[in-house]
Amino acid sequence: MLRIGMLTSGGDCQALNAAMRGVVKGVCSKRNDVEIYGFQDGYKGLIYGNFEMLSSKDFSGILTRGGTILGTSRQPFKLMRVPDANGLDKVEAMKHTYHKLCLDCLVILGGNGTHKTANLLREEGLNVVTLPKTIDNDLWGTDMTFGFQSAVDIATDTIDRIHTTATSHSRVFIIEVMGHKVGHVTLHAGIAGGADVILLPEIPYDIDEVVHVIQNRSKVGKSFTIIAVAEGAISKEDAKLKKKEYKEKIANRKYPSIAYELAEQIQTRTDKEVRITVPGHTQRGGSPCPYDRVFATRMGAAASELILNKEYGYMLGTKNGKTIKVPLQDVAGKLKYVDPECGLIKEAKMVGISFGS
Ligand code: F6P
Repeated sequence: MLRIGMLTSGGDCQALNAAMRGVVKGVCSKRNDVEIYGFQDGYKGLIYGNFEMLSSKDFSGILTRGGTILGTSRQPFKLMRVPDANGLDKVEAMKHTYHKLCLDCLVILGGNGTHKTANLLREEGLNVVTLPKTIDNDLWGTDMTFGFQSAVDIATDTIDRIHTTATSHSRVFIIEVMGHKVGHVTLHAGIAGGADVILLPEIPYDIDEVVHVIQNRSKVGKSFTIIAVAEGAISKEDAKLKKKEYKEKIANRKYPSIAYELAEQIQTRTDKEVRITVPGHTQRGGSPCPYDRVFATRMGAAASELILNKEYGYMLGTKNGKTIKVPLQDVAGKLKYVDPECGLIKEAKMVGISFGS
């Protein structure tokens, strides 16, 4: 008997179901003695022993479905060693569930925080295989994560729709794009949507430069400006602050997010009307784009191969178009940032996009 525990953890994204389907189809095509334990709402299900026994049928017809059939939740890594309200040791509880069910391995789909806990479980002696999910595409060790391309499509569509109204009204439009501490989604959607200014966490911006771009565009008869700003974008001034000081500043800021702060600054320095669009969680919603369906299927199939070969302790990923396995200890705790010196940024600048620096 091959007993596989499966869970999806952290923020959801498109193609989680496609990836799980890939794992199950791959394993079940080679063995007919497979039991699948689907843990509900991520690590929470593993901690409290909430699971459902699933069969390969449960993974049919879900290739195109968004969200996750298992449910998910955020269980911060830094609290994993902190007992819960009833004094339960969460790590010991997860190990207990694993051993009680006599699992051969856990398949964990997640992003950065999820990988830290997956690595902890590996260190505690559990067999773990992970799959790279997140719209942010910030997982170290892989060129791509599933969810990213779908989110780029949605953010691009938002910018496309703003374009026509921005031109009609001669306004400045700010579109705030998700991505947590990195700017991959904003960079790609910004270029694809023809944004005039793209502001990323990796390239601190100067508000004077942003204003300068808006005014220069006006001078040459372009009365509107589209700004794609990453939710984690930071000004040059704020980038000089110590981490703690910056955290305090953010906690006390009067604006709900960066787009609102920028809008006020632009409004007071120009004669332009400014409008804000925040697509928010729509960027994680709906069905996966074809790229993500294919990529997640590849990752799932590759994971099934590792499971069948009893090769544990790896995250599946891709490098230069090839599927790779990356040791979990190498992935855990690292972020993949946008390289400000990369070719994409250089080429974007060549076509006139400003990064506000
Ligand atoms: O990590 C995915 C992500 O969508 C980030 O881009 C964003 O910062 C965060 O999750 C939002 O988290 P939540 O869904 O918990 O509000």
